[in-house]
Amino acid sequence: MESVIVAIDGPSGTGKSSTSRAVAAELGLSYLDTGAQYRAITWWMLTNGIDVDDPGAVAAVCGKPVIESGTDPLAPAISVDGADAAGPIRTREVTSRVSAVSAVPEVRARITGLQRAIAAAAEKGIVVEGRDIGTTVLPGADVKIFLTASPEARAARRSGELKGSEAADLASTREALIRRDAADSSRKTSPLAKAGDAVEVDTTDLTLPQVIECVVALVEEKR
Ligand code: C5P
Repeated sequence: MESVIVAIDGPSGTGKSSTSRAVAAELGLSYLDTGAQYRAITWWMLTNGIDVDDPGAVAAVCGKPVIESGTDPLAPAISVDGADAAGPIRTREVTSRVSAVSAVPEVRARITGLQRAIAAAAEKGIVVEGRDIGTTVLPGADVKIFLTASPEARAARRSGELKGSEAADLASTREALIRRDAADSSRKTSPLAKAGDAVEVDTTDLTLPQVIECVVALVEEKR
């Protein structure tokens, strides 16, 4: 079986993570959640008292944390300086500050290097999900997918994922999501964008199993 590199990009709440993990598991591929890496570096900045709204301060220290990503689609793992960071990177605070950190070119250069090394080491191939995978990180990917959905559908999915004190009403989730996508799409360095040769899949009216089936079919066509 040939190795295959699959890039799955799109804004938040389009089902990128669930789709990417399921496709990787079904096809026996590795999996990389690049958003988790940007969240991890943001969490490290916040816990170390770095002003994340100061790009110079962020750039000066962004090489320090050791960020390690697991590539098992059935048990995605992320650690910072050896400590499990899977829980802390999902807080509302990290979610609301991550776009400021991910816009800093030095941060992107460092994280992009980690991502390319992980993809190169994946012998059977890998599904990499993010915002700039098809355009910047792996422009030579064999399959490029861009997932979209209406803001209402995305907010409803995201609210459903939040638990306990992090739970928010639909209107505020929708606003936060639109704000984050606008920041991610308008930054100067590798913004959220559809690659010219990516296949766009609108997931608004599709169930998760339908999206997975569609992406698996697109990958199988290419290998
Ligand atoms: O996918 P997730 O919502 O966890 O991503 C968190 C944030 O990480 C995004 O809002 C974006 O700022 C950043 N990100 C990025 N490039 C990627 C993946 C994520 O800038 N490839």
